[in-house]
Amino acid sequence: MSRIAYVNGQYVPVSKAMVHIEDRGYQFADGIYEVCTVVNGRYWDMEGHLARLDRSLRELQMDAPMDHAALRVVMKEVVRRNRLKNALVYMQVTRGVAPRNHAFPPEGTPPSLVITARRFNLNRGDALAESGVSVISHPDIRWGRVDIKTVGLLPNALAKQAASEAGAYEAFLVRDGYVTECSSSNAWIVDESGALVTHPKGNTILGGITRQTAIACAEELQIKVIERPFTLEEAKAAPEAFLTSATSFVTPVTAIDGVRIGSGKPGPVARRLREAYKARAARG
Ligand SMILES: Cc1ncc(COP(=O)(O)O)c(C=O)c1O
Repeated sequence: MSRIAYVNGQYVPVSKAMVHIEDRGYQFADGIYEVCTVVNGRYWDMEGHLARLDRSLRELQMDAPMDHAALRVVMKEVVRRNRLKNALVYMQVTRGVAPRNHAFPPEGTPPSLVITARRFNLNRGDALAESGVSVISHPDIRWGRVDIKTVGLLPNALAKQAASEAGAYEAFLVRDGYVTECSSSNAWIVDESGALVTHPKGNTILGGITRQTAIACAEELQIKVIERPFTLEEAKAAPEAFLTSATSFVTPVTAIDGVRIGSGKPGPVARRLREAYKARAARG
C-alpha cells in the first residue's frame, strides 16, 4: 500500500505529494512543525503538541491553517488512510506560496499544511534504551529563537550528521560551556543526590513536550527536578545522563565523547523514568 499524505486540502499518495517551488517553507524555512505519536489509536500528549504549534505560529505571526478540531480530524484521517494503529504523525505549516520576497506575503495568503504518518512502535526504542546510547558534544551554532519549532534545522542536521559519523546516536549541543539540548531531543543529567537536572526553558532550547511529561512522571515518582544549565564537564562526571523526545521517550546516555557515564550502563533513575513514561503513554 502506498503511503498517503495530506497536502493543502487533499489526501494523496506520498509519491504524488507536491509542494510549490515558491512555498516559503522551501525558500526561507518559513515554517513550523510538530511530531507526535498515536498510541493504540489514541493521540498521545496531543494537547501539548497543539499548544506548542499555536505558540510557534503566534511567535512568527503566522496564520493557523485550521482550528484544533479540524486538525485532529485531518490527522486521524491520515492515520486511518495509512491503516495505522500506532503512528508517528508529522505536521508542517508554512507561510504559504508567494513570489520570492523576504518580507511577508500579502495578508490572506493561505498557509500551507502537510500532514504525514508512518508506523510507530511503542517498544521500538527498547533495545537502545537497554544498551544505552553514546553522544558526542557539538557546538550549538543555532539562531536565538530555537524555542520556536521551525523547519530551519540545518545546524541540527549538521550536529546529527557529526554524531552519526562518530558512531554516536545524538549530539549534546554546547553553548558557552553549557549543554543546551540535543539536535532533536532534550538533554538531562542525574546529579549526586539523584535529582534530575535539565536546562531551563527559554530562547535557547526547544521546550520539549516529552520533557514536560517527563517532569510530571518524575513528580509522580517523587524524584526532584532542577531546571538549571549544566556544563559539559558536569555531564561527563554525572552518575547518569539521558535524553527525551516524542520519538525516543526517555533514552539513557552511557557515554559522552567516549567518556563513560556512571557505570557505563543505563542507570536506575533513567530506567524508572522511562518505565513511568511508557506506562503513561500506554494509558493514553
Ligand atoms: C531541538 C529539539 N529539542 C527537543 C526536542 C524534543 O521535543 P519533543 O519532546 O516535543 O519531541 C526536539 C524534537 O524534535 C527537538 O528537535
